Amino acid sequence: MIIAPSLLAGNHAAFGKDAVRASKSGADWLHLDIMDGHFVPNISFGPQVVKAIRPLSKLFFDVHLMCSKPEILLEPFAKAGADEIIIHVELGEQVEPLIWKIKNLGKKVGLAINPLTDISKVEPFLDKIDLLLVMTVNPGFGGQEFIHETLPKIQQAEAWRRQKKLRYQISVDGGINLQTAAECARAGADTFVAGTSLFGQRSLKAAVTKMRKIVNAHDPALADLKV
Ligand code: DX5
Ligand code: ZN
Repeated sequence: MIIAPSLLAGNHAAFGKDAVRASKSGADWLHLDIMDGHFVPNISFGPQVVKAIRPLSKLFFDVHLMCSKPEILLEPFAKAGADEIIIHVELGEQVEPLIWKIKNLGKKVGLAINPLTDISKVEPFLDKIDLLLVMTVNPGFGGQEFIHETLPKIQQAEAWRRQKKLRYQISVDGGINLQTAAECARAGADTFVAGTSLFGQRSLKAAVTKMRKIVNAHDPALADLKV
Protein backbone atom coordinates (compact mmCIF):
# COMPACT_ATOMS: atom_id res chain seq x y z
CA MET A 1 0.00 0.00 0.00
CA ILE A 2 1.35 3.38 -1.07
CA ILE A 3 0.38 6.62 0.66
CA ALA A 4 1.03 9.70 -1.49
CA PRO A 5 0.32 13.13 0.02
CA SER A 6 -0.54 15.69 -2.66
CA LEU A 7 1.52 18.86 -2.37
CA LEU A 8 -1.33 20.82 -3.94
CA ALA A 9 -2.84 20.93 -0.45
CA GLY A 10 0.44 22.12 1.06
CA ASN A 11 1.41 25.71 1.77
CA HIS A 12 2.11 27.31 -1.63
CA ALA A 13 4.39 29.85 0.03
CA ALA A 14 6.49 27.04 1.53
CA PHE A 15 6.59 24.03 -0.78
CA GLY A 16 10.10 23.14 0.34
CA LYS A 17 9.04 22.97 3.96
CA ASP A 18 6.04 20.79 3.13
CA ALA A 19 8.12 18.47 0.93
CA VAL A 20 10.42 17.92 3.92
CA ARG A 21 7.38 17.44 6.16
CA ALA A 22 6.05 14.78 3.76
CA SER A 23 9.46 13.06 3.69
CA LYS A 24 9.48 12.78 7.47
CA SER A 25 5.86 11.62 7.68
CA GLY A 26 6.39 7.99 6.70
CA ALA A 27 4.63 8.57 3.36
CA ASP A 28 5.88 6.57 0.38
CA TRP A 29 5.45 9.05 -2.47
CA LEU A 30 4.90 12.75 -3.02
CA HIS A 31 2.10 13.45 -5.53
CA LEU A 32 2.60 16.56 -7.65
CA ASP A 33 -0.48 17.93 -9.41
CA ILE A 34 0.33 19.92 -12.52
CA MET A 35 -2.53 22.00 -13.94
CA ASP A 36 -2.30 24.10 -17.09
CA GLY A 37 -5.44 26.25 -16.97
CA HIS A 38 -6.70 24.53 -20.14
CA PHE A 39 -7.18 20.81 -19.53
CA VAL A 40 -8.53 21.86 -16.14
CA PRO A 41 -9.78 25.30 -15.02
CA ASN A 42 -6.89 25.95 -12.64
CA ILE A 43 -3.13 26.49 -12.63
CA SER A 44 -0.80 24.97 -10.07
CA PHE A 45 2.99 24.89 -10.54
CA GLY A 46 5.61 23.75 -13.01
CA PRO A 47 8.92 21.93 -13.46
CA GLN A 48 10.91 24.68 -11.73
CA VAL A 49 9.11 24.02 -8.47
CA VAL A 50 9.68 20.27 -8.82
CA LYS A 51 13.37 20.88 -9.52
CA ALA A 52 13.65 23.14 -6.50
CA ILE A 53 12.15 20.62 -4.07
CA ARG A 54 13.89 17.56 -5.57
CA PRO A 55 17.05 17.87 -3.42
CA LEU A 56 14.94 18.20 -0.27
CA SER A 57 13.24 14.81 -0.47
CA LYS A 58 14.06 11.20 -1.31
CA LEU A 59 10.38 10.36 -1.83
CA PHE A 60 9.22 8.94 -5.16
CA PHE A 61 7.90 11.92 -7.17
CA ASP A 62 4.55 11.04 -8.76
CA VAL A 63 3.85 13.78 -11.32
CA HIS A 64 0.22 14.02 -12.45
CA LEU A 65 -0.12 16.07 -15.64
CA MET A 66 -3.58 17.59 -16.01
CA CYS A 67 -2.43 19.31 -19.17
CA SER A 68 -3.60 19.53 -22.79
CA LYS A 69 -0.09 19.43 -24.26
CA PRO A 70 1.92 17.05 -22.10
CA GLU A 71 4.36 16.45 -24.98
CA ILE A 72 6.03 19.80 -24.27
CA LEU A 73 6.32 19.02 -20.55
CA LEU A 74 7.60 15.44 -20.39
CA GLU A 75 11.26 16.25 -20.76
CA PRO A 76 11.21 19.26 -18.40
CA PHE A 77 9.53 17.18 -15.67
CA ALA A 78 11.80 14.20 -16.28
CA LYS A 79 14.83 16.47 -15.91
CA ALA A 80 13.33 18.15 -12.85
CA GLY A 81 13.28 14.81 -11.02
CA ALA A 82 9.96 13.07 -11.67
CA ASP A 83 10.03 9.33 -11.00
CA GLU A 84 6.68 8.70 -12.65
CA ILE A 85 4.69 10.80 -15.10
CA ILE A 86 0.92 10.38 -15.33
CA ILE A 87 -1.00 11.50 -18.41
CA HIS A 88 -4.76 11.44 -19.03
CA VAL A 89 -6.58 8.93 -21.25
CA GLU A 90 -8.87 11.79 -22.37
CA LEU A 91 -6.03 12.93 -24.67
CA GLY A 92 -7.16 10.23 -27.11
CA GLU A 93 -4.82 9.44 -29.99
CA GLN A 94 -1.91 11.10 -28.25
CA VAL A 95 -1.92 8.57 -25.41
CA GLU A 96 0.08 5.79 -27.03
CA PRO A 97 2.98 8.00 -28.31
CA LEU A 98 3.07 9.80 -24.94
CA ILE A 99 3.41 6.47 -23.11
CA TRP A 100 6.42 5.53 -25.25
CA LYS A 101 7.97 8.96 -24.81
CA ILE A 102 7.74 8.66 -21.01
CA LYS A 103 9.25 5.16 -21.14
CA ASN A 104 12.08 6.44 -23.35
CA LEU A 105 12.83 9.10 -20.75
CA GLY A 106 13.37 6.25 -18.28
CA LYS A 107 10.36 7.12 -16.12
CA LYS A 108 7.44 5.07 -14.86
CA VAL A 109 4.19 5.62 -16.75
CA GLY A 110 0.82 6.39 -15.25
CA LEU A 111 -2.52 6.74 -17.00
CA ALA A 112 -5.34 8.73 -15.39
CA ILE A 113 -9.06 8.57 -16.10
CA ASN A 114 -11.66 11.20 -15.20
CA PRO A 115 -14.93 10.29 -13.45
CA LEU A 116 -17.04 10.86 -16.58
CA THR A 117 -14.84 8.80 -18.92
CA ASP A 118 -15.78 5.18 -19.52
CA ILE A 119 -13.33 2.69 -18.02
CA SER A 120 -13.18 0.79 -21.34
CA LYS A 121 -10.99 3.65 -22.68
CA VAL A 122 -8.00 2.52 -20.60
CA GLU A 123 -8.17 -1.18 -21.48
CA PRO A 124 -5.94 -1.02 -24.59
CA PHE A 125 -3.09 0.50 -22.56
CA LEU A 126 -3.12 -1.68 -19.45
CA ASP A 127 -0.16 -3.83 -20.52
CA LYS A 128 1.97 -0.73 -21.15
CA ILE A 129 1.56 1.19 -17.91
CA ASP A 130 2.91 1.02 -14.36
CA LEU A 131 -0.08 2.70 -12.73
CA LEU A 132 -3.72 3.42 -13.43
CA LEU A 133 -5.00 6.53 -11.67
CA VAL A 134 -8.75 6.49 -11.12
CA MET A 135 -9.84 10.09 -10.53
CA THR A 136 -12.41 10.08 -7.76
CA VAL A 137 -13.27 13.78 -8.28
CA ASN A 138 -13.34 15.92 -11.41
CA PRO A 139 -9.76 17.16 -11.65
CA GLY A 140 -8.84 20.80 -11.12
CA PHE A 141 -9.20 21.50 -7.43
CA GLY A 142 -8.27 20.00 -4.10
CA GLY A 143 -10.78 19.65 -1.29
CA GLN A 144 -13.69 18.24 -3.32
CA GLU A 145 -16.16 15.56 -2.29
CA PHE A 146 -15.34 11.93 -3.25
CA ILE A 147 -17.57 10.62 -6.08
CA HIS A 148 -18.82 7.18 -5.01
CA GLU A 149 -19.88 6.25 -8.56
CA THR A 150 -16.17 5.79 -9.38
CA LEU A 151 -15.88 2.71 -7.13
CA PRO A 152 -16.97 0.20 -9.83
CA LYS A 153 -14.11 1.46 -12.00
CA ILE A 154 -11.63 0.45 -9.31
CA GLN A 155 -13.26 -2.98 -9.14
CA GLN A 156 -13.05 -3.34 -12.92
CA ALA A 157 -9.39 -2.27 -12.93
CA GLU A 158 -8.68 -4.86 -10.26
CA ALA A 159 -10.59 -7.60 -12.12
CA TRP A 160 -8.66 -6.86 -15.34
CA ARG A 161 -5.38 -6.91 -13.47
CA ARG A 162 -6.13 -10.38 -12.15
CA GLN A 163 -7.58 -11.76 -15.40
CA LYS A 164 -4.80 -10.37 -17.59
CA LYS A 165 -2.08 -11.21 -15.03
CA LEU A 166 -0.76 -7.64 -15.09
CA ARG A 167 0.98 -5.72 -12.35
CA TYR A 168 -0.06 -2.08 -12.71
CA GLN A 169 -0.82 -0.23 -9.51
CA ILE A 170 -4.33 1.11 -8.95
CA SER A 171 -4.27 4.62 -7.58
CA VAL A 172 -7.14 6.81 -6.40
CA ASP A 173 -7.05 10.60 -6.36
CA GLY A 174 -9.54 13.15 -5.06
CA GLY A 175 -11.57 13.36 -1.87
CA ILE A 176 -9.54 10.59 -0.26
CA ASN A 177 -9.87 10.59 3.52
CA LEU A 178 -9.79 7.75 6.07
CA GLN A 179 -13.31 6.64 5.21
CA THR A 180 -13.09 6.81 1.41
CA ALA A 181 -9.56 5.34 1.39
CA ALA A 182 -10.90 2.23 3.12
CA GLU A 183 -13.73 1.96 0.58
CA CYS A 184 -11.23 2.26 -2.28
CA ALA A 185 -8.91 -0.32 -0.67
CA ARG A 186 -11.83 -2.71 -0.45
CA ALA A 187 -12.57 -2.12 -4.16
CA GLY A 188 -8.96 -2.95 -5.09
CA ALA A 189 -6.92 0.27 -4.88
CA ASP A 190 -3.37 0.08 -3.55
CA THR A 191 -2.11 3.64 -3.99
CA PHE A 192 -3.79 6.53 -2.18
CA VAL A 193 -3.33 10.16 -3.14
CA ALA A 194 -4.61 12.52 -0.48
CA GLY A 195 -4.19 16.27 -0.18
CA THR A 196 -6.60 18.02 2.13
CA SER A 197 -7.14 15.09 4.51
CA LEU A 198 -3.40 14.70 5.15
CA PHE A 199 -1.86 18.19 4.89
CA GLY A 200 -4.83 19.58 6.81
CA GLN A 201 -3.76 17.72 9.97
CA ARG A 202 -1.38 19.20 12.52
CA SER A 203 0.65 15.99 12.50
CA LEU A 204 1.14 14.72 8.95
CA LYS A 205 2.97 11.74 10.39
CA ALA A 206 0.02 10.68 12.55
CA ALA A 207 -2.36 11.17 9.61
CA VAL A 208 -0.23 9.04 7.27
CA THR A 209 0.15 6.31 9.91
CA LYS A 210 -3.58 6.23 10.47
CA MET A 211 -4.40 6.09 6.76
CA ARG A 212 -1.90 3.25 6.29
CA LYS A 213 -3.49 1.22 9.11
CA ILE A 214 -6.94 1.75 7.69
CA VAL A 215 -6.12 0.81 4.10
CA ASN A 216 -4.19 -2.25 5.25
CA ALA A 217 -7.22 -3.37 7.24
CA HIS A 218 -9.69 -2.31 4.47
CA ASP A 219 -11.88 -1.22 7.36
CA PRO A 220 -13.54 2.22 7.49
CA ALA A 221 -14.63 1.54 11.08
CA LEU A 222 -11.02 2.11 12.14
CA ALA A 223 -11.34 5.73 11.00
CA ASP A 224 -12.92 6.56 14.34
CA LEU A 225 -10.17 4.97 16.40
CA LYS A 226 -7.19 6.81 17.80
CA VAL A 227 -3.88 5.42 16.49
C1 DX5 B 1 -7.38 17.04 -8.18
C2 DX5 B 1 -5.94 16.55 -7.96
C3 DX5 B 1 -5.76 15.84 -6.69
C4 DX5 B 1 -5.95 16.70 -5.50
C5 DX5 B 1 -6.51 15.85 -4.41
O1 DX5 B 1 -7.44 17.75 -9.35
O2 DX5 B 1 -5.57 15.68 -9.01
O3 DX5 B 1 -4.51 15.17 -6.60
O4 DX5 B 1 -4.78 17.31 -5.08
O5 DX5 B 1 -6.85 16.70 -3.40
P1 DX5 B 1 -7.82 16.32 -2.22
O6 DX5 B 1 -7.20 15.14 -1.52
O7 DX5 B 1 -7.82 17.56 -1.41
O8 DX5 B 1 -9.13 15.97 -2.84
ZN1 ZN C 1 -3.50 14.23 -8.77
